[in-house]
Amino acid sequence: MLDIPNSNFLKENNAKQVWHPMAHPNEMEAIPPRIVVSGEGVRITDLDGATVVDASAGLWNVNLGYSCEPIKQAIADQLARLPYYAAFRGTTHPGLIELGYRLVELLAPEGMSRALFTSGGSDSVESALRLARQYWKVEGQPDRTKFLSLKKGYHGTHFGGASVNGNSNFRRAYEPLMPGCHHVTAPFAYRNPFDETDPERLANLCLAALEDEIKFQDPQTIAAFIAEPVQGAGGVIVPPPGYWPKLRALLDRYDILLIADEVVTAFGRTGNWFGSRGWGVKPDMMCIAKAITSGYFPLGACVVNARIDEAFRNNKDMLGAIFHGYTYSGHPVGCAAALACLEETFKRDLPGNSRDEGDYLLARLRDLQTEHETVGSARGKGLMLALEFVSNRDAKTPAGLKYVGELANLAYEHGALVRIAGNIMILSPPLVIERADADAIVGAIDAALTLNKLDPAA
Ligand SMILES: Cc1ncc(COP(=O)(O)O)c(C=O)c1O
Repeated sequence: MLDIPNSNFLKENNAKQVWHPMAHPNEMEAIPPRIVVSGEGVRITDLDGATVVDASAGLWNVNLGYSCEPIKQAIADQLARLPYYAAFRGTTHPGLIELGYRLVELLAPEGMSRALFTSGGSDSVESALRLARQYWKVEGQPDRTKFLSLKKGYHGTHFGGASVNGNSNFRRAYEPLMPGCHHVTAPFAYRNPFDETDPERLANLCLAALEDEIKFQDPQTIAAFIAEPVQGAGGVIVPPPGYWPKLRALLDRYDILLIADEVVTAFGRTGNWFGSRGWGVKPDMMCIAKAITSGYFPLGACVVNARIDEAFRNNKDMLGAIFHGYTYSGHPVGCAAALACLEETFKRDLPGNSRDEGDYLLARLRDLQTEHETVGSARGKGLMLALEFVSNRDAKTPAGLKYVGELANLAYEHGALVRIAGNIMILSPPLVIERADADAIVGAIDAALTLNKLDPAA
């Protein structure tokens, strides 16, 4: 058993025997990661006793904060009753049946019909890509194998997901990736190759470029287009309101499936129950994970609509058998956590609070933009927000990594843990935050911007 008070042991061995995801091992040894020992409400406490607001909600997933007793109790009860059973051919368990029922019910407005459970977001994306290819084979169009996606998109780290990712950091060291994956410009008003700032004109330009790529590839070779309703890890890129409805119409014209990667956006993050719902769009497949259990247990799902469900049901040979899935697909403890989590999400109207507190936070972040020259852009939707730092506002020159790293350190010292991606600060606090917590986050960032003496251009 770990002896938590033995802080010397923990500090001496921090990042020495393990590799941390998304970091260079040498950097982690030089600047050791913070050792988080407990969490309560929307706050976490580290080994040295500092308590701060978790403005990241873990990794966009701890929507209910750290003290959701009903989820903890559901996990404990399930562990006592049945800690594991498999969902492969021949067996199932009550939690899996009930969670499938609840999800399809919850996603009725999107016309979703079936779920395949996974252990997390990357699994859910991989499942969607594989099932999309299988769908077209079952439908008698085996040439439809390619995938289109957005630059700056993030879809996890499995080979399929990495292949549709739109950021070279997640690709370069692992290339060659999957052939047949092609990327188009994201509708990002702050930075785009068209130099277009008007949102709707930008949406039209991006969609015209997508249509051009579809024609170039030959639509009859394309299985699906995958995108996040609001691009998260790429820097919180909120598309213009017209983008998704027009995207759906464009894909329909060429009979291309739409996969919504809702791993971050599902369950209230953007101020709607689902990101797609916020845009008034019905995807063919949805990838969900993270907040389905508020991060208390690893679980995800790929959910498909009636069109796809029916194609598999109409299949009369083994081509329609799902030769895909995981040992932990529909883990009983994860299903129990998710059922309790969904109930709490409803009870506490997390999408509503995300909208209200998100609007408030965005307004306060725009105040910071007015007050501090290095804030080039303040943007977001619901409680999915970002500040982008620049050394020159007119030229939009990205601020240096040392400057941005120092901002995160200072913000922590002043009461908020924030996440940094390049020159962007990502804010995704638990959806249960209250006004005072939002003010604490803004206060910490304001102090960091005021006290940071490093040169943003260095
Ligand atoms: C949009 C999106 N898809 C997929 C993933 C991968 O999820 P996981 O890290 O649970 O595998 C993430 C993770 O942040 C994500 O943001």
